[in-house]
Amino acid sequence: MRPRCLDDFIGQSRVKENLKIAITAAKSRGAPLDHVLLYGPPGLGKTTLANIISAEMGVNIKTTSGPAIERSGDLAAILTNLTSADILFIDEVHRLNRSVEEILYPAMEDFALDLIIGKGPGAKNLRLNLPAFTLIGATTRFALLSPPLRDRFGVVFRLDFYDEAAIDTILGRSARILGIKTEQGGLDEIARRARGTPRVANRLLKRVRDYAEVIAKGVITKEVAIDALDKLEVDEIGLDEIDRKVLRTIIEKFGGGPVGLETIAAAISEESDTIMDVYEPFLLQKGFLDRTPRGRVATPLAYRHLGLPYNNKEKPPQPTLL
Ligand SMILES: Nc1ncnc2c1ncn2[C@@H]1O[C@H](COP(=O)(O)OP(=O)(O)O)[C@@H](O)[C@H]1O
Ligand SMILES: [Mg+2]
Repeated sequence: MRPRCLDDFIGQSRVKENLKIAITAAKSRGAPLDHVLLYGPPGLGKTTLANIISAEMGVNIKTTSGPAIERSGDLAAILTNLTSADILFIDEVHRLNRSVEEILYPAMEDFALDLIIGKGPGAKNLRLNLPAFTLIGATTRFALLSPPLRDRFGVVFRLDFYDEAAIDTILGRSARILGIKTEQGGLDEIARRARGTPRVANRLLKRVRDYAEVIAKGVITKEVAIDALDKLEVDEIGLDEIDRKVLRTIIEKFGGGPVGLETIAAAISEESDTIMDVYEPFLLQKGFLDRTPRGRVATPLAYRHLGLPYNNKEKPPQPTLL
């Protein structure tokens, strides 16, 4: 279901346009593409884009991830095995450790590998040339990237949540590929609840298809989609059980906040990283959550969405004069 070329990649038009220019320019120069950094919440198409870039450039792609490269020697081995113009895709690039990152700096900047031979005063520096390659890094946490690494990417794209029309198109394409019978109203309903995220949209489509096949007559109509999504506890704007748990916890256990992320995570037994990467970006975008220096705060919109009374905490009750 992954789109293979830029024209099949739906939405993100600004990213696509800039990428097209960069790719065309690199190809006409016969040079590898500048190093590319893709960042944004999970499920928006970073891995897909990395693969599309390699297809459009007509070069090989090697895929690895930050946590998978444990020692600097591991990275050195990967780099020396590249051939000219190859793409090295490092997912979760913010999770590279420092000693590995330091190997990457000269590799990105000068296509060189700096080795130290021997120990003590007799140690020698040896510089090996690497083939010219393109590093594509992907991350959900732009802020965790060290500045020297961040600065070595020539092309930086932020992926945003998709609008409903784009998700609708993605769903239509996926339904065609999977041979699912749908009505437009059914797709619209899934699109509305897919939190602007292709991965979520495709997942919901498959769950709704199951429901349609087992309970209804195999066609995803508007009614079928609504029933199925209600059963999945995905509400009318796409919040799921955990989103609501996060908001409810802030409101009911911590007076609406501010409360630290770790505290919220402990209260609902979730990983704080998962909350930060997967749930928080959408809640922030929807305006249900605020980030303050002292922690997370539930907004009046969150109270309203959950049907809870909002007591304005900014105005404490006026003392009455006796
Ligand atoms: N623009 C898009 N058009 C169509 N499908 C997409 C698009 N972006 C992502 N997808 C689909 O969503 C899924 C998640 O995308 P992925 O690239 O794995 O996201 P990320 O790496 O950012 O977490 C993929 O399986 C792909 O099929
Ligand atoms: Mg990915």
